[in-house]
Amino acid sequence: MKTIAVIGAMPSELADIRSTLGEAGVKHLSGFDFYINSYKGNKIVNACCGIAKVNAALCTQVMIDNFAPDCVINTGVAGGMNSAVKVCDIVISTEVLPHDLDQHFLADYPPYCGIFKADDSLIRTAEKVCGEFDVKCFRGRIVSGESFVSDNKLKMSIQEKFEPYAVDMESAAVGHACYLNKTPYISVRCISDNADDEGAMSFDEFEKIAAKRVADIVLRMTELI
Ligand code: ADE
Repeated sequence: MKTIAVIGAMPSELADIRSTLGEAGVKHLSGFDFYINSYKGNKIVNACCGIAKVNAALCTQVMIDNFAPDCVINTGVAGGMNSAVKVCDIVISTEVLPHDLDQHFLADYPPYCGIFKADDSLIRTAEKVCGEFDVKCFRGRIVSGESFVSDNKLKMSIQEKFEPYAVDMESAAVGHACYLNKTPYISVRCISDNADDEGAMSFDEFEKIAAKRVADIVLRMTELI
């Protein structure tokens, strides 16, 4: 039996996973609620971390300290940052990093790692499940920052610097915490918007559909890990 941690930022990003898993044991730790279920032979612990990197890093650390998961899956929605990636496609992280912090602060000072690599086996599992669901998916870099990107100029400047496939507000922090704790990690995100001038409107329209799609994929992944 493996222990699999699933972390999402907003309650809506965990709603479908929680309704499928059913009644859970709940542990309240350091301000976070950890929902604990047995599911198809594994233990799944899911938590809503809240938005942005501090929340995500703290929640990941509390999760690891208290549940020692075999791996951490960060799930939810994201903005598309590559012209091939469309709303409702899935982006599977190959690596994550912040887009709003000079990379050398993390590379030349502790933790001496500017980019946090996702786990290869989890990447392959995510791709396999997207194939089963016949959902278009891309492997690529995900960047995270302290703002919802819905501005063409900001999008272009992030694209020029980092060439990411998706932007969100948490993946880099979950990846960072997992790196420090030597815990395998992946971020699997469904695109809710294109992080451009129409991003906020698109997010409102597609967030629920995108959240449901990625929730189904993540739950199926837990059966194959
Ligand atoms: N999450 C979903 N869409 C996003 C965007 N455009 N920017 C940051 N986080 C997001």
